[in-house]
Amino acid sequence: MQMKRTHMVGEVADEALIGKTVVLAGWVARRRDLGGLIFIDLRDRSGVVQVVFNPETSPRAHRAAEKLGSEDVVCISGVVVERPPGTANPSLPTGNVDVAAESLEVLSKSKTPPFYITENLDVDELLRLKYRYLDLRRPDMQKNIIFRHRLTMAVRNFLDSQGFIEVETPMFIKSTPEGARDFVVPSRVNPGRFFALPQSPQLFKQLLMVSGFDKYFQLARCFRDEDLRADRQPEFTQIDIEMSFISRDDVLNLVEAMMTDCIEKTLGTTVARPFPRMSYAEAMARYGSDKPDIRFGMELIDISDAVENCGFRVFRSAIETGGTVAAIVGPGCSGFSRQQIKELEEVVKDFGAAGLMSIAVSCGEDGELVLNSQLTKFVREDELQKIAEITAAKDGDLILIVAGPVKVVQESLGRLRLHLGAELGLIPKDEMAFLWVTEFPLFEFSQEEERIVAVHHPFTSPLEEDIDLMETDPLSVRANIYDLVLNGVELGSGSIRIHKRDVQERVFKALGLSEEEAREKFGFLLEAFEYGAPPHGGIALGFDRLVMLLSGRKTIRDVIAFPKTQKAVCPMTGAPGMISDEQLAELHIEVADTGKIDTSGDTQDCLEILKGL
Ligand code: AMO
Repeated sequence: MQMKRTHMVGEVADEALIGKTVVLAGWVARRRDLGGLIFIDLRDRSGVVQVVFNPETSPRAHRAAEKLGSEDVVCISGVVVERPPGTANPSLPTGNVDVAAESLEVLSKSKTPPFYITENLDVDELLRLKYRYLDLRRPDMQKNIIFRHRLTMAVRNFLDSQGFIEVETPMFIKSTPEGARDFVVPSRVNPGRFFALPQSPQLFKQLLMVSGFDKYFQLARCFRDEDLRADRQPEFTQIDIEMSFISRDDVLNLVEAMMTDCIEKTLGTTVARPFPRMSYAEAMARYGSDKPDIRFGMELIDISDAVENCGFRVFRSAIETGGTVAAIVGPGCSGFSRQQIKELEEVVKDFGAAGLMSIAVSCGEDGELVLNSQLTKFVREDELQKIAEITAAKDGDLILIVAGPVKVVQESLGRLRLHLGAELGLIPKDEMAFLWVTEFPLFEFSQEEERIVAVHHPFTSPLEEDIDLMETDPLSVRANIYDLVLNGVELGSGSIRIHKRDVQERVFKALGLSEEEAREKFGFLLEAFEYGAPPHGGIALGFDRLVMLLSGRKTIRDVIAFPKTQKAVCPMTGAPGMISDEQLAELHIEVADTGKIDTSGDTQDCLEILKGL
């Protein structure tokens, strides 16, 4: 490169530069030949500007510009000129000016890219991931990654200003249980032994409290081998925080202050504090979810009282067996067709509900509510009217009812609420609704594992008043857990920790861990607790999810520079790859079914797409 860049492209919007010579460098976004003049849109990460090549004033540069193609890399020197009247482009920040090129240096040629380098691209994501370096050249992706950087800086600056110290914890560790599978790394020098990659820095941050660091944070890389979806990646980043000598409200206040400060610094938006708080039990009863989206109503309503003596066996037996009957009201949905209601039924059935009952509400001539339902065969008119009364249904509404075990009813109606809310356009897009959910149970019964497991992790403190139920009624013990929810997405989770060895041992015991197993797995932690452990607690916020929500994206893949696909592969590099027999031998590993590796996944799909190009 012979010329030296003087400005970023976006800076040319500054009127003070009119009449001045600038040297710009970047990519050719577009070239147009118009009656002798050649126009190119020159792009770098700060913006786009129009450069004009005039054959009369700069014949050499013009000749070179004739050969330019999309995505060639160039360096241009020229004079910033005001555009002729009527030719300004108000949609571009630099739209009032042109750069009249005087010389052009071609730094690199580009092949025709597999997709347009443009905003709002409608192309298969697999192809974007295969050519991620080109995808990341697109202005909207650059915006996401730059926004992520701004948020990173805002978080670091805020926590630093509050006296927090960032400490890096190791990546090669012994397993920390967070409920997912570990990614493991074989140790060559210790045959047959494996490191686990951290699912979170949980144990290390607790040990840092024992060391006296008091206020710790880390933008921590975490690794979890679990089913992936739009808001889950196998490797992701947490804003990980731990504090000593604090109570729950200190953590909540700190996080609220951090969120409002960072949002103000990055988006310029103010968020009201304090964030609302709700117990887990209330969240489940009102929204059928432990991460309720409170941007809209349509809450669950318990109608057990209205139907406990009715003639419909399904309702009665649900209540008699300790279950419940609840409803939501679909506003203006009374005209839904059978087919539409059947589709809603599929939603609740996916969550284990046996079926969905409905009552269409209209208004009779005398102003009385007329209730239309398949239930009229079994449920008396006055009972139906009572349901309408309890649910406050109005003319034009559709009451949707599920009966069964409490968890099934709540979760299926909670799901239906979200489905219908989205379908009816009831969820305001621009609102930011933060919510704390507190007092989760400490334990739950896992059907899959057929045993009691920790809801959060085994280091969470039970609520003081429930501690003695640990041996007699463990499932009713509430924990000092708090989740931060934003617009129905679980953004973060934290707890006050156990800092006493005896309580920690009781929790391990309730989880079915023998003393020996506990010592083998977490002996170092139990031992540390015997050397002066301060009371402590903390939280971890999913940083990728935060960036996604604040930048209005639908998946965290859009805010991670090099993410994996839903099937946990990288179509660009081909990871995960095979390793050689020598490497395997060195690691003392034998692969049972070499040659039977399933290639039907993303990489294969990607190859198919590429073949079609
Ligand atoms: P937890 O397991 O709830 O808590 O994780 C905290 C937050 O991390 C985010 N998160 C993820 N983001 C992207 N991809 C994933 N696979 C993924 N898994 C989790 C979520 C989640 O709320 N050590 C505890 C925290 C603590 O107690 O301090 C922990 O990791 O936003």
